[in-house]
This record gives sequence, C-alpha cells and structure tokens, in this order.
Amino acid sequence: MTGNRLTAQGLTLAYEDRVVVEDLDVEIPDGEVTVIVGPNACGKSTLLRALGRLLKPRRGAVLLDGTDLSRIPTRRIAQVVGLLPQTPVAPEGITVADLVSRGRQPHQKWWQQWSETDETSVTEAMERTSTADLAERQVDELSGGQRQRVWIAMALAQDTDLLLLDEPTTYLDIAHQVEVLDLVRQLNRERGRTVVAVLHDLNQAARYADHLIAMRAGRIVAQGPPADIVTAELVGKVFGLASVVVPDPVTGDPLVVPGPPRQAGPPRGA
Ligand SMILES: Nc1ncnc2c1ncn2[C@@H]1O[C@H](COP(=O)(O)OP(=O)(O)OP(=O)(O)O)[C@@H](O)[C@H]1O
Ligand SMILES: [Mg+2]
Repeated sequence: MTGNRLTAQGLTLAYEDRVVVEDLDVEIPDGEVTVIVGPNACGKSTLLRALGRLLKPRRGAVLLDGTDLSRIPTRRIAQVVGLLPQTPVAPEGITVADLVSRGRQPHQKWWQQWSETDETSVTEAMERTSTADLAERQVDELSGGQRQRVWIAMALAQDTDLLLLDEPTTYLDIAHQVEVLDLVRQLNRERGRTVVAVLHDLNQAARYADHLIAMRAGRIVAQGPPADIVTAELVGKVFGLASVVVPDPVTGDPLVVPGPPRQAGPPRGA
C-alpha cells in the first residue's frame, strides 16, 4: 500500500469479447494533476470509466481508500469521485442551471432537497467556467464549446476530492482551453483536488501534468513527471511519430515539435 486514494490492481477491462486493457496496475498520486495521453482507441476512456466505476472490471479491481469500488455504494463514490465522460448526454430540453444543479445530487439529503451549500457550489461552478450567462438556456441549443463548459461546471458543482475529466478541452477554442486547464490547476493547487485528465495535446499535457501516463494498446508505456519522460523516443514509441523535443521557451517544459529533425545540409542555393 502506498496510501494513494485511487489505485487499480491487475485491471482487465473488456467489452464483450474485446479486451482493451489487460492486467494493468495504476496509482493516481493524491493531490496531483495526472494526465493520460495515448493514441485513439488505446483505452484511455475505458480506463477512466473504470476508475469512475462506469465500467465494471473483468478482472482485478479499482480501489478507493483501499476498498474495492464494487463494494462501495454508488452515492458514496459520487461524493468523492466526479467523472466527466468523453461524450456526455444531456436530458432533452434541460436548462444549463438544472444540469449543473444535478452535480449536487450525491450530496442531497432526503430531508433537505436544496441547501445553501448546494446553491453556493452551483453558482461558483458556473462563475468559474464562465457559464453563468447561459443559466436559462437549453443545453441542446448551445455551441459545442459552451456545452463542454457547462459539463465541466456540473462536474465542479459535484465538489469531489477526485475529479476525472475525459478530454475536457474538446470543442474549446484556445483561450477557453487555457481557461479550463488553468482552472483545473487552480482547483488542484488551492483546494488540493486530485485530478486525472485525458488530453490529446502533448504540449498542454506536459505543461499541466505533475504526473504523466503514456498509454499504448491498453498498456502504460511510461509514467512520471513530464520533464523526465517526454522524449522523441517516447513520442515515437507511443504515437509512431517522428518529432523533436525542445524546452518550451516560456515554461521550460518539454515541447514536442512533430516531424523528423532537419538534416544539417549545405546552405540553400549552394
Ligand atoms: N462501448 C463499447 N463497446 C465496445 N467496444 C468499445 C466500447 N467503447 C470503446 N470500445 C473499444 O475499446 C477500445 C478502446 O476505446 P477507448 O474509448 O477507451 O479509447 P480512447 O483511448 O479513449 O480513444 P480516443 O482517443 O479515440 O477517445 C477501442 O477499440 C474501442 O473501439
Ligand atoms: Mg477516449
């Protein structure tokens, strides 16, 4: 036991006869931002869904505070672990305010339907995701990026110690991507939230992750601090892509520039 709250041991995940992840061990470091990267279909969402108990392991177990998730009541899990799936589906005709409020369900008590804490959490979540202006709009008539921020607001309103986000930046323009990633980091640094996010942008991953997990074909190829593991060799191994890795001129984090290194040749026109 290492004492991390969320871990998995000997995890095998499958859909009917398609095994996606086999015998995987993973530890989610408490109080850190973990980012999972890897090619399409390698099993990132599958792993995240198992960590959030949306998918039952074929073998092995996900442990929360040392207890198998399958032995913990769903409501209790939802008070501790929030999951934003890759393609969430909103009930038809629901308003933004109502959807975000649903994030509070795991905390509501039968004798008190709506508390001041619920109200504060919802208001704050909407302010932090710049969705307050959308409160009365219907979710299904929003733009892709607006809708994504509403889902993030719902996950935030749930107010959990652990937050699992599957591609939280999809559909967002670059400014909103940075806004969401900064928000994630803020929640982590200021409130000690443990975050696991799947991201496709390797450079954002390297910048925002404390702990990076690189997956390929259902296996973890490398994990650790980005500065230790992001190399051209790793990018080649995981994505089959030639690249050059240089220090980010702003932050010093590894910056992946796709494409083979330029061969030093004779100067042009020579
Ligand atoms: N509900 C499902 N039923 C059957 N197979 C599935 C299901 N969901 C995913 N799979 C399969 O499991 C494999 C892993 O899918 P997963 O969604 O975990 O990939 P991913 O790494 O998240 O990819 P992406 O980057 O495209 O989101 C894929 O081969 C996919 O086709
Ligand atoms: Mg996915």
